[in-house]
Amino acid sequence: MKNKSLLMLVLGVLSGSLSAKDYLISTPNTSLLITANPGEKSKFQYYGSRISEKDIQGIYDSSLTFGVESYPVFGLKTAGERAMAVTHSDGNMTLDLVVENVRQYTEKDGDVTEIRMKDLVYPFILKQFFKAYKGTDVISTWVEVENNGKKPVTLHRFASAFFPVHRGDNWMTHFHGFWGAESTMEEEKLTNGQKVISNKDGLVNSESDNPSFLLSLDGRPQEEYGRVLGGTLAWTGTYLIKMDVKNTSFMVSAGINEETSHYVLDGKKTFVTPEFAMTYSTSGKGGVSRAFHRWARAYKLNRGNIPHDILLNSWEGVYFKVDQKEMDQMMEHFSAMGGELFVMDDGWFGNKYPRNTGSSSLGDWEVCKEKLPDGIEGLLESAKKHNIKFGIWIEPEMANTKSELFEQHPDWILRVANRPLSTGRGKTQVVLDLTNPEVQDFVFGVVDNLMTKYPEIAYMKWDDNCCLLDYGSSYLPKDRQSHIYIEYQRGLNKVLKRIRAKYPNLVMQACAGGGGRVNYGILPYFDEFWTSDNTDALQRIYLQWGISNFYPAIAMASHVSADKNHQTGRRIPLKFRFDVAMSGRLGMEIQPRDMTEEDKAFAKRAIASYKKVRSVVQLGDLYRLVSPYDRKGISSLMYVTPEKDRAVFYVYKIEHFVNMLIPSVRMNGLDAQKMYRLADLTAAKADKPCPLDGKVISGKVLMEEGVVLKEILKKEYSSMVLELQEVK
Ligand code: GLA
Repeated sequence: MKNKSLLMLVLGVLSGSLSAKDYLISTPNTSLLITANPGEKSKFQYYGSRISEKDIQGIYDSSLTFGVESYPVFGLKTAGERAMAVTHSDGNMTLDLVVENVRQYTEKDGDVTEIRMKDLVYPFILKQFFKAYKGTDVISTWVEVENNGKKPVTLHRFASAFFPVHRGDNWMTHFHGFWGAESTMEEEKLTNGQKVISNKDGLVNSESDNPSFLLSLDGRPQEEYGRVLGGTLAWTGTYLIKMDVKNTSFMVSAGINEETSHYVLDGKKTFVTPEFAMTYSTSGKGGVSRAFHRWARAYKLNRGNIPHDILLNSWEGVYFKVDQKEMDQMMEHFSAMGGELFVMDDGWFGNKYPRNTGSSSLGDWEVCKEKLPDGIEGLLESAKKHNIKFGIWIEPEMANTKSELFEQHPDWILRVANRPLSTGRGKTQVVLDLTNPEVQDFVFGVVDNLMTKYPEIAYMKWDDNCCLLDYGSSYLPKDRQSHIYIEYQRGLNKVLKRIRAKYPNLVMQACAGGGGRVNYGILPYFDEFWTSDNTDALQRIYLQWGISNFYPAIAMASHVSADKNHQTGRRIPLKFRFDVAMSGRLGMEIQPRDMTEEDKAFAKRAIASYKKVRSVVQLGDLYRLVSPYDRKGISSLMYVTPEKDRAVFYVYKIEHFVNMLIPSVRMNGLDAQKMYRLADLTAAKADKPCPLDGKVISGKVLMEEGVVLKEILKKEYSSMVLELQEVK
């Protein structure tokens, strides 16, 4: 494919016509190059630093082009991994796709290149899309399959993305997890063979591996230099991401996990895969993260550019022991500390079966009269009295076998008719069959009824504490049972779309037994996510570090909880707990009544400080400075505004030994020419800020030489949060 005609390319791209050969898809700093000639296979040529048309010949001449099929399908020349495999109605298991035409057009959020391919024999069309999101360095890809025949085609494999990567000293970073230990960073050199990250939960997918990865081309990935590709699958169901690594090639595929999900595509119907989004950075992992954060805030979060309130969530404070007096008391205390929003968690509903443990009542979304005799009205009145907003917890996709809903609608449950029913939490939790439109209406109604009756509700925490247990739907026909994993997600999407259309300003948190739904499949409907049920400040440094690779601070709920911590039993000073929580969307998860007056006074100051820098944290660019995974005894990060006039710097002592070595920390992202005034945001004693407070230091010194911390980080769990402001 060398010696391309540049003229041909330019003409082709300008006209978007059938004669086009090379399609250059560019963002401000990246480019992707596809060759698509009508009647031929479409080819993936290049993905990397931004190039212009005049560089294309050089890309070919330096053999940087791959020349591999952009969407290889199974059947002819069968050896190797394929993006798609099908069976036609006559039993033929092959596809043979060639380009029919290419269209390029602009949508509200990006520029789309659509490569239409057709099978040479069967009435089967595949459109491969690439979308360059405006103002970001993210390009996404997905495919749409059209069965133009009369009879069904069965899809056995249907990747969203399939692309080559240059083979070298490749490292992969992924984010493994489990309840309480979500997004634990794993970094490894890729050797020949296959490396798979996947999930088979059915409903939530990030309590195992997050569906995201980083690939370094230059050895162990670094924060601010080196070539790193980042990819994430925008899907919240089962998924499979595979690295197929050989001495001579390296292919990545990503999509829905097709095992047990073969899809029967009826005649005249279309199947669309989820979107896979990627970016490429020559400034290491930091560049990848900043690109995804910008993209998320602009396009993949509900109202991602509006800073979030500081909230108190009732869960760790009272667990299921919700009542009017307790809620009122929590609101009063939190409001006095400067809090802005109170969220009543689990335990508020159910009358025939009041919700006192995790083993009953899901589905019975009526206020428990015994616990809350004044109803939601009473709570809203309290909120008004204490000048605070009010939010509420729901888990609407679920039921318990001990619930009125289960008694009334046993057929609304995902279950297998001739087998015993499996149950989850509390040995009674079951999953509603969201493939069923009636159930979709019910789930929509959980939100809609609350919002219609109480439009003052400002926030909902939407939880899911169960995986898809029994693979059986009484709604789907017998020969479509293999669609359950997919149809469930479609049903959920429909519900969430309706909610967003009607309640665009309702702030919603995606929670799933902690951080089980942190992915870009579900986040577009939500404003934020619950990062983990683990609120231990030390472990949170690791969890949040992992999460921050793909997800922005504005969405990362980070709460100050009790001493001692309920998950780990660790005791950590309140200042350190605040300093960690203030690096995300600050909140509290505590019984405020149990706090000392001194602690409350500190919390009040910390909350006031956070308000001052909230926009920098939630909307700024993240620079990770010292990784907790590097075991240097400290961890550090900072946020900087795009104008580089303000920043917030965090450092934490995470190990403690006598006379230990404490490295100085060099900042990043500032303007070397600017002078910055430093202010200690969370001094333990208001009149005793740290020695850096008030100092004016140049961006050059802060970035090239850094700050020495050995006098500041003396004690166990010492920490510091500094505000930096440009001095003009
Ligand atoms: C899940 C959530 C918690 C809390 C409980 C309530 O575990 O992650 O934050 O809401 O459910 O049952």
